[in-house]
Amino acid sequence: MRIKKVAVIGLGYVGLPTYVALLKAKTYEVVGYTRSQKKVDAINKGQSPIEDEDVISYLKSNKVKATNKQQDLKGCDVFIICVPTPVKDDYVPDYEPVISATQLVAPYIKKGSHYVLESTVNPGTCEEIILPILEKETGLKAGSDFNIAHCPERINPGDQKWNIYNINRNIGSLSKSQNKEIASFYRTFITKGQVNEVNSLKVAEATKIIENTFRDINIAYVNELAQSFDIMGIDLHETLKASSNKQFAFMPHYPGCGVGGHCIAVDPYYLIRRASLDGFNHQFLKYAREINNGMPGYTIQRLLLGLNDVGLSLKGTKVALLGLSYKPDIGDIRESPSLIIEKELKKLGAQIIVYDPYVKRAEKDLAKAIKNAKAIVVATAHKEIKMGLESLLKKSKVKVVIDGRNCLDKEKIKKMGIVYKGIGR
Ligand SMILES: NC(=O)c1ccc[n+]([C@@H]2O[C@H](COP(=O)([O-])OP(=O)(O)OC[C@H]3O[C@@H](n4cnc5c(N)ncnc54)[C@H](O)[C@@H]3O)[C@@H](O)[C@H]2O)c1
Repeated sequence: MRIKKVAVIGLGYVGLPTYVALLKAKTYEVVGYTRSQKKVDAINKGQSPIEDEDVISYLKSNKVKATNKQQDLKGCDVFIICVPTPVKDDYVPDYEPVISATQLVAPYIKKGSHYVLESTVNPGTCEEIILPILEKETGLKAGSDFNIAHCPERINPGDQKWNIYNINRNIGSLSKSQNKEIASFYRTFITKGQVNEVNSLKVAEATKIIENTFRDINIAYVNELAQSFDIMGIDLHETLKASSNKQFAFMPHYPGCGVGGHCIAVDPYYLIRRASLDGFNHQFLKYAREINNGMPGYTIQRLLLGLNDVGLSLKGTKVALLGLSYKPDIGDIRESPSLIIEKELKKLGAQIIVYDPYVKRAEKDLAKAIKNAKAIVVATAHKEIKMGLESLLKKSKVKVVIDGRNCLDKEKIKKMGIVYKGIGR
């Protein structure tokens, strides 16, 4: 089948760059669908809801027509699903967005269509959840009449080097011939990265989940080391730098005030739960989650110790929390440890002011944020904080700095007579 019309469902951090990459390929008629009217309006006015330079510049100079009308999906040959895969409050995977997006496209699946899931899911999701919906709704046979594929996205928002065009991809389908066809389609817009065909849907699903659980476990390991080294008075930051000069078999990960975002803090729960249905207990993954979820609390402990050193109590003290987003230089606050730190500090009676140049509700002026603050907690290593804070500290009333990202010059701050505590530093 010749692919002529393509739909991207979900226009967020993953879907919007994909939509733009497909438009730039100038090979297909492309439908960008998202269920949020607000998002549709913003995108069609040329405003990008995400901090992605390629998307921002494309939307500025090209008129696009994103939609939330189901009938616009009529006639599409490929449906690329990029909807969220969150967890509920009890960490149980929430498949609702995937299920509703599948139901949305089902009426338009015909012989020869490709359904491609890019959202991160546990192995088995495509065959156990998506396939039954599509076969029931269409009366067609998946794997012969139409294809179900998984091509997990690996995009890293805010990354200047790695983007949708040059990150290698893995793709798996129900049948080899269908996989070949859909992989060739991906090669038309993934212009610089490789598109690797794997032998099954389950392998494709497993690749992404093990990439993210690998990160979670390694971060948990250094977060545990940080706590032990803080007791022993060893600088983990310096230790990691020194260990990293081994030319092989060492890969540094860095401790911090918590793991956030829509991927690493969430995806492990999908694998933990799916394996448990088959009777397997992923102890290692659970323990990693527990350690990483404990880091905001550990950061508050560091603050309490720092305040103790200067004879202050947290109650009534003005604390500037610097950074709300879960990672530097973007405004994504999903699952951000800063939110937990903010909530807990408020509960403990601190007077909190929150600074983040990328987040709407936060103070944008760093000098204003730290004015009159007695303590600072750096929760995100935004460039504005790394470059601007030290000079402001000299003229401030700050007595304690908690560097939750180990991104400041410890010796310089100590020389100013300020108590400095990092995470393992
Ligand atoms: N953000 C990342 O860095 C990243 C990287 C790689 C993979 N992923 C994975 O990609 C998936 C999407 O993540 P994201 O960060 O782009 O999410 P997002 O929240 O930024 O975007 C999701 C979009 O889907 C829309 N949407 C939600 N439910 C819908 C539905 N039923 N029908 C149509 N549209 C719907 C939302 O309005 C939004 O536009 C997740 O599984 C995530 O784990 C994310």
